[in-house]
Amino acid sequence: MTEAPWSSDMAWPTGMSPFDPFDAAIQADPYRHYAWLRAHAPVIRAGRPEAPLYVVSRYDDVLAGLKDSATFVSTPPGGEVIPGLLLMLDPPAHGPLRQTISRAFGPRAVNAIEAAVRTLVATRWDAFLAAGGGDAAAAFATPLTMGVIATVLGITVADAAQMRAWTNSAVDFIATRIRGVVNPDASVDSYARMRAFMADAMDRAARDRAAGCGRDTVIDALAALREEGALTPDEADGFACLLFMAGHETTTLLSVNCLDQLASDPSALAWLQAGGSPAAFAEEMARFRPSVHRLTRYAARATTIGGYDIPAGAAVRFLIASANRDATRYADPERFDPGRLGAAHTGFGAGMHICLGSWLARLELRLMLERIAATTASIAIDGARIPVEGGAFATSGLTRLDLSVTPRRM
Ligand code: HEM
Repeated sequence: MTEAPWSSDMAWPTGMSPFDPFDAAIQADPYRHYAWLRAHAPVIRAGRPEAPLYVVSRYDDVLAGLKDSATFVSTPPGGEVIPGLLLMLDPPAHGPLRQTISRAFGPRAVNAIEAAVRTLVATRWDAFLAAGGGDAAAAFATPLTMGVIATVLGITVADAAQMRAWTNSAVDFIATRIRGVVNPDASVDSYARMRAFMADAMDRAARDRAAGCGRDTVIDALAALREEGALTPDEADGFACLLFMAGHETTTLLSVNCLDQLASDPSALAWLQAGGSPAAFAEEMARFRPSVHRLTRYAARATTIGGYDIPAGAAVRFLIASANRDATRYADPERFDPGRLGAAHTGFGAGMHICLGSWLARLELRLMLERIAATTASIAIDGARIPVEGGAFATSGLTRLDLSVTPRRM
């Protein structure tokens, strides 16, 4: 029996506070803590004494845990299963639903939308460049990602903005429901509104298809699966909402992280302009500074991780961003190296829940970096640089990044 130490009881190096998953300063720059945890305390307990979180930081432990979906489940004990919310489903329900949904939303759709995404990227980046820069999150990455998701789903940009406005309170609502807590506040309305919007959009798509004017969008494909009985109506509109919730903030933050990297390290832009692969650059960013930092699972039975006891029902936080910097896996892991070859990472998760939308995020990032390399002479930080706060490290990155940019002479 080896009990994982409490973060607050450990002797942290001078100048480092105990690792606390709710500390804003650590969230803004957690990598020193991650390195220390991997070296000295690969499994710790943190959070409230009555509800400890088991925090796991080494690559091998993170990967093994995420792949063991029988022991580490996504729905907490006693929590409610919400239809269509693939992310929270466990075996045996997860596999068949993911397979069905992949027919509507999978990498085959890349070819269908690449040209549209390329145009969106060029329009947005060229406008940002012509303005000499600005807040890269508000003036570039957010509208770009919203435009891409609207295109893929087949909704208008105005509707996507409304969905975005509903998202945060809907996520809060879901987070409490899956823990089995009844949440009477207004956020219930937000999730109900999102679902009603998606159900209407699918009804319209089904009518258009019957009238011979269907479109090639994810909403149309989900409506078709609903019609043939492969998805229940709840699963179809629940999943359409999930695409929105899982896709927009994650991609926006990673795009801004890329821009921050380009602004902080001029050799990164030079590397791209010397013919370096934008796809490899995006991949290294997803390893080096991913926008999702941890994934939570619940122990379905008493078990161990790295020799430490994990009691049944415990909440376990797998630090995927720490795993991505593990020296047993990557040479010189604290260095951004877009030329790194064949370095698979956990920036999009691992195991059966591995990101279903990573093809879309990769497409957007690749086209963005291609456009920047082709058109831009310099990118520099020019004002505020504000990290995302809250959500206890689920996401990480900058919510505001003021840049000045200059065009390349052709
Ligand atoms: C840079 C952008 C993105 C990052 C870093 C990211 C990250 C992740 C991660 C880490 C997971 C695994 C969650 C877990 O195991 O609990 C995940 C799952 C998922 N992501 Fe993404 N994601 C991104 C973009 C997107 C986009 C654009 C979409 C769709 C529009 C999307 C849809 C999903 C879905 C549906 C799942 C659940 C898959 C399942 O449970 O089987 N993601 N994502």
